[in-house]
Amino acid sequence: MITTERLILRPFTENDAVDLFEYLHEPTVHCFFDMKISSMDEAKEEAVKRMETDCYFAIELKDTGKVIGEIFVHPDGEGMEEDCSEGGYSDDTYSPCWMLNKDYHGKGYAYEAANAVFDYLFNEKGARRLYAYTEDYNIASQKLCEKLGMRQEGLFMEFISFVNDENGYPIYENTYQYAILKKEWDKRGK
Ligand SMILES: CC(C)(COP(=O)(O)OP(=O)(O)OC[C@H]1O[C@@H](n2cnc3c(N)ncnc32)[C@H](O)[C@@H]1OP(=O)(O)O)[C@@H](O)C(=O)NCCC(=O)NCCS
Repeated sequence: MITTERLILRPFTENDAVDLFEYLHEPTVHCFFDMKISSMDEAKEEAVKRMETDCYFAIELKDTGKVIGEIFVHPDGEGMEEDCSEGGYSDDTYSPCWMLNKDYHGKGYAYEAANAVFDYLFNEKGARRLYAYTEDYNIASQKLCEKLGMRQEGLFMEFISFVNDENGYPIYENTYQYAILKKEWDKRGK
């Protein structure tokens, strides 16, 4: 568990299903469309799924106890689909992903949470490099990466497709990669 000024970052519990439903029933970006859920039963399944690995941080508001989103951190490489806490991957590189309930965007919560998780990964988990993908139209996520001190490493043209057009053909999206190294993190703000 990690605490910040306004947040508690902790593993999910089954009791988080209602809050999970709130932000997963209408994903706001294409890359999370396949995570869309439409019932409380599905929300409960998602909560249990999140409890089974140590890759998910629920973002809880200290004041109210409400879970307003999540940060998913997966280690790079093979085996991560099975169990993020097991071996078979490069253990010094992680890729974080963030999603907040839309009612809580723009209040600095994503930065507060990601900043604490980055600190944890670099200083407790021995991370050497963190990288994130974000679509070229996702300004909020790009700004968050930049505020965290991540460098834009490249733009992959027509890199991935999450949705099809009206004729059933994939719409390919342009994706930025951002990254930060431990030594860059250590120098931040100094
Ligand atoms: C990406 C996301 C987590 C950012 O959350 P947030 O609550 O807006 O982030 P914060 O309030 O902590 O803001 C972080 C910085 O980004 C800036 N920012 C956020 N949204 C912005 C926007 N739409 N336009 C310009 N800047 C923006 C903030 O101003 C802040 O910088 P500042 O402090 O220098 O002003 C949130 O928009 C989200 O959940 N989006 C849907 C899921 C998603 O896109 N995930 C990423 C997939 S790649």
